[in-house]
Amino acid sequence: MSEIVLEGRELVRDYHIGGGLFSASRTIHAVKGVSFRVEKGKTLAIVGESGCGKSTLARIITMIDAPTAGELFIDGEKIDIARDGLTAELRRKVQIVFQNPYGSLNPRQKIGDVLGEPLLVNTAMPTAERRDRAMEMLLKVGLGPEHFNRYPHMFSGGQRQRIAIARALMLNPRILVLDEPVSALDLSVQAQVLNLLADLQDEFELTYVFISHDLSVVRYIADDVMVMYFGEAVEYGSRDSVFSDPQHSYTRTLFAATPRADVESIRARLARKAA
Ligand SMILES: Nc1ncnc2c1ncn2[C@@H]1O[C@H](COP(=O)(O)OP(=O)(O)OP(=O)(O)O)[C@@H](O)[C@H]1O
Ligand SMILES: [Mg+2]
Repeated sequence: MSEIVLEGRELVRDYHIGGGLFSASRTIHAVKGVSFRVEKGKTLAIVGESGCGKSTLARIITMIDAPTAGELFIDGEKIDIARDGLTAELRRKVQIVFQNPYGSLNPRQKIGDVLGEPLLVNTAMPTAERRDRAMEMLLKVGLGPEHFNRYPHMFSGGQRQRIAIARALMLNPRILVLDEPVSALDLSVQAQVLNLLADLQDEFELTYVFISHDLSVVRYIADDVMVMYFGEAVEYGSRDSVFSDPQHSYTRTLFAATPRADVESIRARLARKAA
């Protein structure tokens, strides 16, 4: 039987801005009643143009931000930040990886310590074991023991993204929210990181929410696809149904704007990689 790990029901997020001496206050409706369900081990991709509410939704799912209205369920448990606060156990379950991890990596911290930190902060694990676990995860994301004592600036963009993924996995989350995780990388490196994410998903039975504006990437990674447009989910369904038979005119416009060759070339590259 399928297990629903993540569910949103009619999620809404408004932002109130302005209201200063010289400006009238106004409300931005960033997310307008969005619902979704994601099964364990599956990937929901969220697509849409800049400002449509993708990152806002990501912050709600990661419990960084509370919705204005609607309900969020993680592992069947209803999340109410305002009422309950968040237990460490609950926070651990959802981790996020951003487009540019450099900003969140401390330049003075060696990679081994970057990876060990979540364990240091959240567990009483002895130092030696923490180091072992950090090393193990470093190898799992395709880096080597020689990288353990290096600093963030000594890595390429793709390697840094591997480090960010490794760090996100240190506390054994159930859900990984990936906000444009490969958008800043060269195409060949994108393919490598996507393959790594697919392998890690299988190994750890991870559920992904994958935010991207790149349809060729979405086509490769997604099980289900949600297309957002001005805060609304205008399209939501299995990848194949959304790609083969888009219902909304915005989705058709979006697809028409994506050169077909992109899809084919990234597929070919990924197939070569996999061979
Ligand atoms: N903290 C905030 N305060 C006020 N408005 C915000 C805030 N965060 C986001 N917004 C607004 O909410 C809307 C949705 O923003 P969001 O960052 O979710 O879009 P996005 O789809 O992630 O865009 P992008 O593709 O550029 O990352 C935008 O109009 C944005 O300006
Ligand atoms: Mg965003």
